[in-house]
Amino acid sequence: MKKFFYLSLAALFLLAAPLCWGKDLPKVAILATGGTIAGSVESGVATTGYTAGVLTVETLIKAVPEIQSLAVISGRQVCNIDSSNMTDDIWLELASTINDLLARDIDGVVITHGTDTMEETAYFLNMVVKSDKPVVLVGAMRPATAISADGPKNLYNAVALAASPEAKGKGVMISMDDAILSARDAAKTNTMKTSTFKAPNSGSLGAVIDGVPYFYALPAKPHTTATEFDVKGMKTLPKVDILYSYSNDGSAPAAEALVKAGAKGLVIAGSGAGSVHRNQKEALLNLMKNNKTAVVRSSRTGSGLVLIEGDDKKNGFIGADNLNPQKARVLLMLALTKTDDPKKIQEIFNKY
Ligand code: SIN
Repeated sequence: MKKFFYLSLAALFLLAAPLCWGKDLPKVAILATGGTIAGSVESGVATTGYTAGVLTVETLIKAVPEIQSLAVISGRQVCNIDSSNMTDDIWLELASTINDLLARDIDGVVITHGTDTMEETAYFLNMVVKSDKPVVLVGAMRPATAISADGPKNLYNAVALAASPEAKGKGVMISMDDAILSARDAAKTNTMKTSTFKAPNSGSLGAVIDGVPYFYALPAKPHTTATEFDVKGMKTLPKVDILYSYSNDGSAPAAEALVKAGAKGLVIAGSGAGSVHRNQKEALLNLMKNNKTAVVRSSRTGSGLVLIEGDDKKNGFIGADNLNPQKARVLLMLALTKTDDPKKIQEIFNKY
């Protein structure tokens, strides 16, 4: 009888053990690119004057052992930079790595990234990742060395989101300060605050509270598997630059110089609803006519629609819809991989 009891106990252990070893946990890959989340400085009270992109992916993972209960974690260092130095090469490498991982048995991807250009990388990936599995970008506003650093909890929530079946099909997301934001709509809105990321035109998709995602909205525009953009095998992307429009605008020579230096498109951070100063407009019209430069007008206000009508439309100016200038730049780069016809580019802006 005693023998039977011990044999049953052993059988029960063997059956239950794989669950305890995490066999059924989702697999999440963390791709580290640098930023303040990997930043370091001597003083624990300092939240400025630190160096971004110092700590490695292994250190970030070790610092939050709680993520091991959410997923089977793997890590890869893609680069270790301040995201103000982000490049097309890194974007193309990220796109190819993510598409490769998600085509295999990885269930979700987390990208640790500096906050300065996070919204640009997120939107690029939102347009070129070919999977409905979750892809989540995360960062921090305070360096890892700071007392009350926001990185560890942000990383925990991002892994929880990437591991969640509910996050499937929602496109690329940014998870910061407990909020879930769509890559298309997220924008950094404050230089210092941990709550810097907002979606000024549409609001957030939901929230992650202590590792549990709650969704209340869906992205309205096509993304990931539903886009026409495929950067597989591409080594470069069309060059697009951004110019401001402002009182007594003197940027006409700069517009000409950018095109001479290889820009195929320009995005104007226009005043109000995308207005451009007449000093600048003249130069832009010439570039559109003589160099086939694509010119997209966005707004420097931080939110709202830019719609192009009348003569401006006839002359080929393209409206950015409600994409901010840095997001409009990403979409124009991708649009130019398909066409240089302003009418077709406008259709792309209306769609995405
Ligand atoms: C960066 O963007 O790499 C530095 C700033 C930050 O991550 O908050």
